[in-house]
Amino acid sequence: MDLDLAGRTAVVTGASRGIGLEIVCALVAEGVTVVAGARTPTDELRALTDRVVAVDLALAGGPEELIAAALADGDGIDLLVNNVGGNPAPFDGFLSVTDEHWDHVLELNLMSTVRATRAALPSLVQRRGAIVNVASANAHLAQPVVVAYAAAKAAMLNLGKALADEFGPQGVRVNTISPGPTLTSLWTAEGSAGAAMATAMGLTQQQLIEQLPAMAGMTNGAMTDPAEVAALVLLLASGAAPSMRGAELVIDGGLLKAV
Ligand SMILES: NC(=O)c1ccc[n+]([C@@H]2O[C@H](COP(=O)([O-])OP(=O)(O)OC[C@H]3O[C@@H](n4cnc5c(N)ncnc54)[C@H](OP(=O)(O)O)[C@@H]3O)[C@@H](O)[C@H]2O)c1
Repeated sequence: MDLDLAGRTAVVTGASRGIGLEIVCALVAEGVTVVAGARTPTDELRALTDRVVAVDLALAGGPEELIAAALADGDGIDLLVNNVGGNPAPFDGFLSVTDEHWDHVLELNLMSTVRATRAALPSLVQRRGAIVNVASANAHLAQPVVVAYAAAKAAMLNLGKALADEFGPQGVRVNTISPGPTLTSLWTAEGSAGAAMATAMGLTQQQLIEQLPAMAGMTNGAMTDPAEVAALVLLLASGAAPSMRGAELVIDGGLLKAV
C-alpha cells in the first residue's frame, strides 16, 4: 500500500528510544522528515534524523520549544505524534501517591500532549494534517499500582475525541493508539517500572518479561514489538482511512477482555 507520506514533516515526542524511536524509523523509511524530541537524544536517533531537539517535554515550554524548532526550519507540520510518556516506578496504591507524583505523571503524559498539540495546531490546520496520540491499555485498566498513569492515559482518550471533534471539520485527523505491554526500556532498563514490578513479584526482569504476557492474559504469548505500534502510526498518519476520527486502536496482544 502506498502510504503517500514522502515529503511530509512530522514531529515525534519521546523519540530517543523504545516506541518513539521505532516511529521515527518507520516515518523516515517512508520519506518523512522527522523533528524529534527527547531529553537525551541517542546515537540511534541521530542516525535517523539530524533534526533532533534535546528538551524536557514534561516542563511547560518544552513541547512549545520542540514545535517552534520544527516550524523554524520548514514549511510546516503534517503530523504530530504525541508519544512521550511513562510511569515512574509503581507505587503501593492510591494513598502512597504524592501530589508531586500526580503532577509529574500528568505533565509527562497529558500536558505534554496538550502543549505540543496547542502549539502545532495552527500549522496542522493549515496543512490538513494529523495527530496520533500514544495512550495505553492502562487507560482501560484501573490498576491501583499505576493509578496516576492510568488516569492520565484515560484523559488522553477523552482529549483525543474532543480534538477530533473540534478540528476534524478543519481537516485535522486525531486518533489514539493504546499499546499493552511493549518491549522497551520501560520494562528492560535498570530502575524502570518493569524492574520495580519484577522485584515486587520476586522475579528477575527477564522472568517478568517472559511470564507477564501469560499472567496478564495476552494471547500472543509475548510483549508487543514497538515496531508494531509504529506500523499503526503509519496507517493513521497516511490518511488511508480518512474516516478514522477520534478513534482508538488498541494493540495489546488480547490483554483487554471487556467489550
Ligand atoms: N512500553 C510499554 O509497555 C507501553 C505500554 C503502553 C503505553 N506505552 C506508552 O508508549 C509511550 C512510549 O513508551 P516507551 O515504552 O517507548 O518508553 P521508553 O522506552 O521509556 O521511552 C520513553 C521516551 O520518552 C523520552 N522521555 C521520557 N521523559 C521525557 C521528558 N521528560 N522529556 C522528553 N522526553 C522524555 C525518553 O527519552 P529521554 O529519557 O532521553 O528523555 C524516551 O525517548 C509512552 O507514552 C508510554 O506511556 C508504553
